[in-house]
Amino acid sequence: MSVYKSVKRVTTHVLNEMKLNGEKIAMLTAYDYSIARILDEAEIDVILVGDSASNVMAGYDTTLPITLDNMIYHAASVVRGVKRALVIVDLPFGTYQGNSKEALASSIRIMKETGAAAVKLEGGQEVAESIERILSAGIPVMGHLGLTPQSIHKFGTYVVRAKEEEEARRLMEDARLLEKLGCFGVVLEKIPAKLAEDVSTTLKIPVIGIGAGGKTDGQVLVLHDMLGITQEFSPRFLRRYHNLYAEIKGAVQTYINDVRTQAFPNDKEQY
Ligand code: KIV
Repeated sequence: MSVYKSVKRVTTHVLNEMKLNGEKIAMLTAYDYSIARILDEAEIDVILVGDSASNVMAGYDTTLPITLDNMIYHAASVVRGVKRALVIVDLPFGTYQGNSKEALASSIRIMKETGAAAVKLEGGQEVAESIERILSAGIPVMGHLGLTPQSIHKFGTYVVRAKEEEEARRLMEDARLLEKLGCFGVVLEKIPAKLAEDVSTTLKIPVIGIGAGGKTDGQVLVLHDMLGITQEFSPRFLRRYHNLYAEIKGAVQTYINDVRTQAFPNDKEQY
């Protein structure tokens, strides 16, 4: 029997079993209670409260401005809507890179104030000490390599990462290190499919891809992108499953028209 069908609650161990069993892991972002409920009832395996909230919820150009308090607000709302999925929360920019004590303090706040099950952070060797410290408190950590949006000002663009041999070698080294440190999984963002496949077969822990081809152990997308709420973001890897922007706009225009023409409310819609 498939692992995902038999579990009432997805844990990091379940993700491991899914990988061992060759079952792909489905992960999406969510930032609020109502949407998290829908995702959970649809039986998504993992919900990521991503710092992409900075873009799609708050309207910033990058993920840098979102604060720990903002992330805690979003994550606590998501957790209240979830019964089954594993909820992972991004540590926002500036809350874990500087020193490992701060990384632990930020992670403890997330775990205590949201009820989420794990944190995610970006980087490899350079954040190893922070990862060790967070793990020492029993907090599960997911890594994130490849395109790491919190470093956008260092890289300058959102192009595909690790195309060159040297960067690919370093990424593989970092992935091995994350596993050795004790991370329960890794996200690989926007890297060549072959490299992502190599990392996925090398590591025992689950590897989740976004723009990393079809051979990773699972996939993640930003919900607002895959539902077509965002319109301007169209990378090659993005499959839009809906055009919610048009649907919502159409519904709102119909409502406005109904109000203006007094078609709403009708006799049955009043007391
Ligand atoms: O913040 C986010 O949504 C992410 C995903 C793109 C993996 O980190």
